[in-house]
Amino acid sequence: MELSGDPRMEGQDEAAPALLACVSQVKSSSFSSVQQQGYSATLLLRRKDKKLEQVQQKCVVTLALLCCFAVLMVLIFSSVDIWGDDEDGITEENCSRDCRIVLVENIPDDLSLSMDGRRHLPLSVGFHSLLDQAKHSVEVVSSVWNLNSWDMEPKPSTAKQGQLLFQRLLSLKSRGVKLKIVSSRTNVTELKALEAHNAEVHSVNMTALTKGGLHSSFWIVDRKHIYIGSADMDWRSLSERKELGVVVYNCSCLALDFHRVFSFYWQLHDRDFIPSIWSKRVTALYGRHEALELQLNATLATAYVSTSPELFCSKDRTRDLDAIHQVIQSARTFIFISVTDYLPLVKRSFRGTSVTRYWSYIDEVIREAVVLRGVRVRLLISFWKKTDPLTFNFVASLKSLCLQLQNCSLEVKFFSHKEQKEDFQLGLNHNKYMVTDNAAYLGNHDWVGSDFVINAGVGLVLKMKESPIDGGATVLENLKAAFERDWRSPYAKNPQKSKDQQAKYRNLQWSKNHWDIPEENDWNRPL
Ligand SMILES: *[C@@H]1O[C@H](CO)[C@@H](O)[C@H](O)[C@H]1NC(C)=O
Ligand SMILES: *[C@@H]1O[C@H](CO)[C@@H](O)[C@H](O)[C@H]1NC(C)=O
Ligand SMILES: *[C@@H]1O[C@H](CO)[C@@H](O)[C@H](O)[C@H]1NC(C)=O
Ligand SMILES: *[C@@H]1O[C@H](CO)[C@@H](O)[C@H](O)[C@H]1NC(C)=O
Ligand SMILES: *[C@@H]1O[C@H](CO)[C@@H](O)[C@H](O)[C@H]1NC(C)=O
Ligand SMILES: *[C@@H]1O[C@H](CO)[C@@H](O)[C@H](O)[C@H]1NC(C)=O
Repeated sequence: MELSGDPRMEGQDEAAPALLACVSQVKSSSFSSVQQQGYSATLLLRRKDKKLEQVQQKCVVTLALLCCFAVLMVLIFSSVDIWGDDEDGITEENCSRDCRIVLVENIPDDLSLSMDGRRHLPLSVGFHSLLDQAKHSVEVVSSVWNLNSWDMEPKPSTAKQGQLLFQRLLSLKSRGVKLKIVSSRTNVTELKALEAHNAEVHSVNMTALTKGGLHSSFWIVDRKHIYIGSADMDWRSLSERKELGVVVYNCSCLALDFHRVFSFYWQLHDRDFIPSIWSKRVTALYGRHEALELQLNATLATAYVSTSPELFCSKDRTRDLDAIHQVIQSARTFIFISVTDYLPLVKRSFRGTSVTRYWSYIDEVIREAVVLRGVRVRLLISFWKKTDPLTFNFVASLKSLCLQLQNCSLEVKFFSHKEQKEDFQLGLNHNKYMVTDNAAYLGNHDWVGSDFVINAGVGLVLKMKESPIDGGATVLENLKAAFERDWRSPYAKNPQKSKDQQAKYRNLQWSKNHWDIPEENDWNRPL
């Protein structure tokens, strides 16, 4: 047990002195009661045999000591419990900082994007390489589990990659690799099948905790390698949706901090409240003020993990929003943002009625960067069935900032694939990242107010401190190239062109305020 409502059990280092203090308290109070009892016993027995009196005193003292011992044992055992989930002997001091980073993408077959010479690593290859490396443990957080396309009969031909990955996960058992899964739902066929193959599954009931959803999606392998990105454990992520993420190898320092986020979720299993006091084992190791210094492909860089919602930020953990602020504020020449939805609104329900508010936290830093610092901003948003019509208005408002201003550039394009009849996720740009001239933020959320306020997500901030020695490209340059490829593609249209479509969309039957609190397993619904 890592979480604890008991302040004495806060952590390893604090528990020891607290435990001693407690024991000495127990000792002194039992001693005084021993003395009192001893005194009354003395009164009663004064006329009796003095030896008997001494024996009795000894008995009481022994009893008190036994009690003390029992209390001590209870404390020790509960402490062991708290310390339980060990970090494999790797500490902040001797973890590995010499890491390799690879950009992984899933590009649906029917999107033709010219790569100008650069090859991306397919997401499925990234996942398989992580599983190849696994020797002890694979830890996965994903709200959706539908690799085997259980909801589709007959199974679509594009579902093959998902099935392959599912088979690999099933076969971990035979290699003696432990599979640990955090999901928001556990009553899912796929998780049942994995559980039957020794996977340990924990559920985080987001409804009870924040009335939100779990959007977090990341992997930790052997506490050494990690994946983070936009993909879920959904066959669509490996076939028809456009996804982007990174795999970082041999990076136990970063994996250690991701594992702390994992532990946080792990401990929320079956809870309907968030404890106010947490074990030190979930305290953030790195953050926006003290980022991890590491090497990414032999190039000096810094990195840290951020999370949301605020309620899910354990001690010292940077909020996703603060991470985004920092990256935008430190940009000097450009900011490229690629997200599925952009909407500065938040909707919350108070006593049954829902209230919509303007949510300016990201909008305002973008405006500041564009108007006051002359940073060039490009925003690539997806135009799909669930695009809120108000998106166009907020985007128009952003664009109008630059009217009659020199040295001001804010461009917006909408990414959309051909009309989808049977599956609106086909060719959807599901990316969720931002890249600037000196940093990148890869997250699990779309840039929608409600996402950050109630939904659980994780982000990774990367900052380069030098250019590569061998003259190669950094991960930032690869991200920028991926963004520019999408931006120049025929699928990225400017809002003016999307206007006709917009009118058509207004006539569509909108799912009521779909950007609101997400329905559970939104992506899993039969389409
Ligand atoms: C790291 O340090 C801890 C304690 O300081 C030690 O127990 C562990 O074996 C070390 N791990 C490695 C890989 O050197
Ligand atoms: C799990 O789901 C199945 C089918 O959807 C349902 O019949 C069953 O009652 C559910 N079990 C629990 C414990 O919710
Ligand atoms: C999650 O919490 C809600 C509200 O407390 C409860 O109604 C629901 O049954 C819980 N779900 C699960 C799977 O435990
Ligand atoms: C990770 O480190 C090991 C041992 O140092 C090495 O064999 C392996 O190739 C490295 N992996 C990557 C992807 O660089
Ligand atoms: C535009 O803004 C940038 C960044 O502040 C500045 O370096 C540059 O000189 C400006 N250019 C003009 C023409 O004002
Ligand atoms: C880092 O190195 C790996 C392995 O050498 C390579 O596959 C990858 O493309 C490199 N990453 C970047 C961003 O250049």
